[in-house]
Amino acid sequence: MSQISPSILSADFARLADEAEAVRGSDWLHVDVMDNHFVPNLTLGVPIVESLARATDIPLDCHLMIEDPDRWAPQYVEAGAGSVTFHVEAAAAPVRLAREIRAKGARASMALKPGTPIEPYEDLLPELDMLLIMTVEPGFGGQAFLDIMLPKIRRTRELIDKHGLELWLQVDGGVAASTIERCAEAGADVFVAGSAVYGAENPAEAVAKLRSLADAATADAWWACRH
Ligand code: DX5
Ligand code: ZN
Repeated sequence: MSQISPSILSADFARLADEAEAVRGSDWLHVDVMDNHFVPNLTLGVPIVESLARATDIPLDCHLMIEDPDRWAPQYVEAGAGSVTFHVEAAAAPVRLAREIRAKGARASMALKPGTPIEPYEDLLPELDMLLIMTVEPGFGGQAFLDIMLPKIRRTRELIDKHGLELWLQVDGGVAASTIERCAEAGADVFVAGSAVYGAENPAEAVAKLRSLADAATADAWWACRH
């Protein structure tokens, strides 16, 4: 079953509680935290995540595009996030950090930028609840989907299969009705969508449509048939 995580980066930041309500029925709410160091953009931090967690029942999927996640990520769990994703490029001790996130009670997730290969991290996968493969360079919403990431999604799904893991595989960047089926076919099962959801006239309908496209593509996919 595919899960959709609408990114509030494309929402109205002055009306976040209403914007969460507008995607009622989505599995997660994707919160992009940017520090203007790891990426050239600045968004929001712990206090807003705390307020948002109180304002919505949808679990928060916090994507930390920040330096020193070893120091900051645990605070996002305390703020109420249900899932916390750190970038492996920024983490000093990814295994220790994933264990700390889990111990504090959230799902632990690790993200890879487009230029970062999955293979060196094969042995870390059992420590994670989700792996995020970026399908654009992180930093901004509304960028074009990078097709060249599809083989990495496929190879990651093969590794998940090989080790028999219950690991979710998330894609983020340029995911829309025109690209989501290719992601699902390659092996993704959690889909972040910012502009495709909040740019739509009816965001909740856009979520439902994306989910049904992904589910249909998954039903015929090489990786799902075996499960
Ligand atoms: C980009 C962010 C994404 C962004 C996706 O760095 O991590 O979550 O909101 O936006 P779209 O779906 O518009 O590409
Ligand atoms: Zn994101």
